[in-house]
Amino acid sequence: MNKKGFIFDLDGVIVDTAKYHFLAWKKLAKSIDVDFTHEQNEQLKGVSRVKSLEKILEWGNKTISEEQFNNLMASKNDDYLSFIAKMDDNEILPDVPKILDYLIAQEQPVSLGSASKNARQILEKVNLMNKFNAIVDGNDVSKAKPDPEVFLIAAKHLNIKPEDCIVFEDSVAGVQAANTANMISIGIGEKDVLHEADYIFSDFTEIENSFIQELINR
Ligand code: BG6
Ligand code: MG
Repeated sequence: MNKKGFIFDLDGVIVDTAKYHFLAWKKLAKSIDVDFTHEQNEQLKGVSRVKSLEKILEWGNKTISEEQFNNLMASKNDDYLSFIAKMDDNEILPDVPKILDYLIAQEQPVSLGSASKNARQILEKVNLMNKFNAIVDGNDVSKAKPDPEVFLIAAKHLNIKPEDCIVFEDSVAGVQAANTANMISIGIGEKDVLHEADYIFSDFTEIENSFIQELINR
């Protein structure tokens, strides 16, 4: 049987947590007197926690001490976790379970490939932990997307060659990481934003099992 490695980003692909990141970053920005817009939040998709705060400080023209930087990161995450605590499986994006179940039925190896250090907690809250053969997240990498490290580690865990892996991503940085890893990139979101992806869908309701089967058969 043909085996491909299927790697899923988490935030924006499996669950819509961007809104919680936005609320938490917005509160932080306000506390240091910096403006923070939805458009800027878009630019933080797929971007690590450290890099996100660096960008917000840059946009607001702020310089702070290392201690204050670490305190701000910690309080942002506390706020974010208070939203996560209330999550349940209603927050899984449409048709994600359908695709995961199809892959499992076809005995295809499946991994998470996320920048988030809260990934395991979120998968537990939405009850999807048991759908994955491997979980690679922000705790396992030293280089953030667009570096391909997270996806290459996932491929290794699945024991599948990178060129036989398929990545689902909603961020530009993530699509670039998948392309650099020599994997097939599937953008989930807007065509004009994710144009570097090999395939683009608005969401999983647009993806037929027959398309997944074609990827497996390649
Ligand atoms: C990415 C999100 O998946 O994870 C980013 O798109 C987030 O918005 C990053 O900053 C890191 O997440 P966390 O949960 O470790 O702060
Ligand atoms: Mg994402």
